[in-house]
Order: sequence, then structure tokens, then C-alpha cells
Amino acid sequence: MGIPQPTFYIFKCEQSAPPGMPKPSCVTEDSKGLFQYTAQKLMQEGIMMGTPIVRTSCMNRCSSGPIMLIEPGHTMYVGLTEEKIDRIIAEHLIGGNVVEEYVIDAELWDAPIPLDVMRKQMGK
Ligand code: FES
Repeated sequence: MGIPQPTFYIFKCEQSAPPGMPKPSCVTEDSKGLFQYTAQKLMQEGIMMGTPIVRTSCMNRCSSGPIMLIEPGHTMYVGLTEEKIDRIIAEHLIGGNVVEEYVIDAELWDAPIPLDVMRKQMGK
């Protein structure tokens, strides 16, 4: 028997921009503890091994930050707070149900562009 795959991967944007930058960033004074908060909750719930959390840079949804993406499922959660993270862990990761009210607006998370189409757009 091999080492089991994770059930989920959590990708948490940890991009921090200096004050005055044109784009907001996901890590501000108010939100800088959310990565550690999430990691500690995963450990407390006993699911850290099955749901690794990965720090990322900008995922280009800055105006909706703080954000995190859960795979599989391509689920982008936005406007994160500790309370939202608690529900996402309990209802999505443990319970298996997406917390729809925290998911990014469909206008900001449209279907992916097929890579062959993207290549043509880029002149490749
Ligand atoms: S800074 Fe987090 S999505 Fe851009």
C-alpha cells in the first residue's frame, strides 16, 4: 500500500503589496494571520495530512481578497475571515459541501480558456 494522496489541496494567496500600490493585496494588517490560522485549524481537526495548504503569489483576483483556491473542484473562496475559514473547513473539507455564499462571483471566475485557443491568441 502506497502513501495516500491528499483529499484536497488548499492554495492560499500570500501576496503582500506595499500601501499605495494600484492593486490591493491579499495580505494586509487585518489578514496577515489567516494562513497560520487555517493551518492550525487543519491540525486541530486532524486533517492536515489530507489537506495540505500551499502559499501562492497573486492569482489575479486581488479585488476579492483575501482568497484561497481549493482543488479538486476549482473552488475559489473570497473575502476570507477566520469565521469563513471555520465554515469552509467544516462544511467543504470535512462535510463535502461547497460553501456557496463565500465562492467568488461567477463574473470574476468564468470558464477557463482552452490552452490551444490561448496559444493562438498569443500568436503561437
Ligand atoms: S494579491 Fe491575492 S489574488 Fe492578487
